[in-house]
Amino acid sequence: MGIAIVTGASSGIGLSVVQKLVDMGHTVYGFARDFGKTDFSHERFRPVICDMTDLAALEDRTKAILAEAGQLDILVNNAGVGYFGPHETLSPEKLREMTLTNLLAPMALTRMTLRPLRDTKGFVIFVASTAALYPGRFGSAYGATKAGLHQFALSLFDEVRKSGIRVVTLYPDMTRTRFYDRADFEPDADFECHIAPECVADAVEQVLNQRAGTVITQMVLRPQRIGVVKKRRDLTVT
Ligand SMILES: NC(=O)c1ccc[n+]([C@@H]2O[C@H](COP(=O)([O-])OP(=O)(O)OC[C@H]3O[C@@H](n4cnc5c(N)ncnc54)[C@H](OP(=O)(O)O)[C@@H]3O)[C@@H](O)[C@H]2O)c1
Repeated sequence: MGIAIVTGASSGIGLSVVQKLVDMGHTVYGFARDFGKTDFSHERFRPVICDMTDLAALEDRTKAILAEAGQLDILVNNAGVGYFGPHETLSPEKLREMTLTNLLAPMALTRMTLRPLRDTKGFVIFVASTAALYPGRFGSAYGATKAGLHQFALSLFDEVRKSGIRVVTLYPDMTRTRFYDRADFEPDADFECHIAPECVADAVEQVLNQRAGTVITQMVLRPQRIGVVKKRRDLTVT
């Protein structure tokens, strides 16, 4: 079985993907800053403390993993953060954090892993968002980082497809995770109004199980119905 790196492995979509890959028999190195909130352990899950905005640390950790594992089969670029609101209210620090985490870090990590992925004809999977595809009022900067990732992935596939690397972008719509802890809105709890993180992990499994020679390059996951709930102000975490 293979070796995988999953970023943003401490919660939500990333943690579900970790569990799916471990179930499939892979050994998974998961990146995040804080695994204290993560109630999952397995002999084939290796948590790696890493702040994706620290590109030097990201490079060190990745080199160490590649040296230890000796190969890489799957990279899932999932870590991400979203700040929403009228654009003029977003501080430069928040813009910087979103751009580094959502766009620059995945581009840097992908660059470091292309050589080993070429050797295994492996997968690079990006967790973008429907925000990359459709306008989102009060989410223009977040959407810009995800649209950048979307365009990067499409062009990267054209660049590396001859070498056998599969490049995939997933576009989940509103998914019920801790992502909304900082926001003043969240997806409706009705199961038809949000995506479950496990559904994104199932999409990853589908992508990985595609026969060699065919690549699912893009997959959009949308809830059946639209449902967004405005949080009560006194409950909003800032
Ligand atoms: N939830 C949605 O509606 C939705 C929809 C479409 C796309 N997405 C995307 O899906 C991805 C996962 O989000 P989620 O919904 O699963 O949210 P989540 O539960 O908040 O998970 C985000 C993950 O990213 C990690 N992360 C954030 N900043 C980091 C940093 N600087 N360094 C290292 N790790 C960092 C977090 O770990 P630590 O905090 O422990 O570092 C956590 O593991 C994101 O890219 C998000 O943009 C989410």
